[in-house]
Amino acid sequence: MTGAGVSAESGIPTFRGEGGLWSSYDPVKVASIDNFLEDPAAYWRVSRERGPAVLAARPNPGHLALAALETAGHLVGVVTQNTDGLHQDAGSRRVIELHGSGRVVQCLDCGTREKRAEVQARLGEEMPPRCRACGGVFLKPTVVLFGEAMPMAAVEEAFALAKAADVMLVVGSSLVVYPAAHVPLKAVEAGAALIVVNAEPTPLDHLATVVIHGRSGEVLPELAEMLSAA
Ligand code: APR
Ligand code: ZN
Repeated sequence: MTGAGVSAESGIPTFRGEGGLWSSYDPVKVASIDNFLEDPAAYWRVSRERGPAVLAARPNPGHLALAALETAGHLVGVVTQNTDGLHQDAGSRRVIELHGSGRVVQCLDCGTREKRAEVQARLGEEMPPRCRACGGVFLKPTVVLFGEAMPMAAVEEAFALAKAADVMLVVGSSLVVYPAAHVPLKAVEAGAALIVVNAEPTPLDHLATVVIHGRSGEVLPELAEMLSAA
């Protein structure tokens, strides 16, 4: 399972930890569904600032190592809290997006979908961006905002993988947001060994068989190296 930390070395700021997005914005204010419906421009102003880094981001060696581990048959899939699409770009085939995808934008009035990159490109002269089909102002990326339900199919698939896992590897997550943080707990309850790779301690470190405090872009390639040599 991965969190924002696995994309930090691709230039996408994390939410928590130093330089995290939530140290300069109030998450509920800018990323809750209620506030979005109140004032979609507030959300899109943050996106105008943060969007270019996300859209320009490319997979880093950590993403590529996870794809290599899946190809080598050591990894069944990736459950991610990230919405940046970098696991798919890196070649991971089984990716479960617990918080949806930020690459697609949907109009809440008429359902029309557009590529995020196209909407991002018109934020300069259109704030909030308007739906090309109906002119509506509630264009929302297909991500889970605070106060929204998680995609049940993705959550169920993630829990099923966790329960069946021999080893659960958690990378780059502060493990403070639920129900995502339940996924590794389900794995441990079912008898899996837990490995945590993170830049700083997490609340689940005490349950881990192995804790590696380091950068995922360095640790994961080493892990993939060791396993392919095994
Ligand atoms: N390598 C490994 N870990 C890193 C790196 C790195 N290069 N850089 C940062 N980290 C760690 C940070 O120390 C932090 O503990 O990654 C973690 C990222 O934590 P968060 O920013 O809280 O990200 P995440 O756990 O994915 O947040 C969960 O919260 O705001 C919501 O929906 C949002 O999906 C997000 C959810
Ligand atoms: Zn519309």
